[in-house]
Amino acid sequence: MSTLWVGTSWKMTKTLAEGRAWASGLRDHLAGKAPAGVQPFVIPSFTATTAVADILGEDSPVLLGVQNAHWEDAGAWTGEVSVPQARDAGAQIVEIGHSERREHFGETVETTRLKAAAALRHGLTPLLCIGETLEVKDAGGSSEFILGQARGALEGLDDQQLSRVVIAYEPIWAIGEKGRPATTEELIEPFAALGEEYAGKVAGLLYGGSVNLDNAADLLGIEHVTGLFVGRTAWQLEGYLELLRIAEAHAAA
Ligand code: PGA
Repeated sequence: MSTLWVGTSWKMTKTLAEGRAWASGLRDHLAGKAPAGVQPFVIPSFTATTAVADILGEDSPVLLGVQNAHWEDAGAWTGEVSVPQARDAGAQIVEIGHSERREHFGETVETTRLKAAAALRHGLTPLLCIGETLEVKDAGGSSEFILGQARGALEGLDDQQLSRVVIAYEPIWAIGEKGRPATTEELIEPFAALGEEYAGKVAGLLYGGSVNLDNAADLLGIEHVTGLFVGRTAWQLEGYLELLRIAEAHAAA
């Protein structure tokens, strides 16, 4: 069975003190070893990247990411952070194309493609988020829509590059306070479509959107799902540790 990726983006939450407490709690809990069969990762906000990197330490089993990065290596791009800068701060993962960035910050298929290429160019893992609106889902177009997003972002990559990409399917209707948890049945078809095209070719096919302690085990049981990308449930360290336990148990089963 493939390694289960289980991680969280803190989005725009946590002070430095809160971030430090979360990260040191995780470090102490893991004591240098990832749960068997599980790849933990954490994606703090930019201000906490180096603090979390320092706390986790160089040989940490936890991968560290950033929530966005620009496609250019450097230059006059006020307010942006480049992949080399993210790497310099300790990041190994670049989250790309989260629906909140597509909706509010003009992220497009084209910019996700440029950012995925930039991440790969500098040896970082692109974590590509894809997901459809409720409108698209109700019209029966989920699979076609998310495949379009994935193909557009990953166009032109060779097999070796593709094997370093992680895809997270996060239906917009299931994300955040306004979202509702997806049922397992609703996710079977989109993951079948993603699996047909990407299973065994990418490093992971994750699910995200209202993942909680009650649905996590079922979500991991969906064919082709190889991990969870979590917001709210993991912002309290105890919630994240419980998700790691659920994934470890799933990996061992
Ligand atoms: P949520 O966020 O778990 O709080 O729904 C998920 C996400 O946006 O990745």
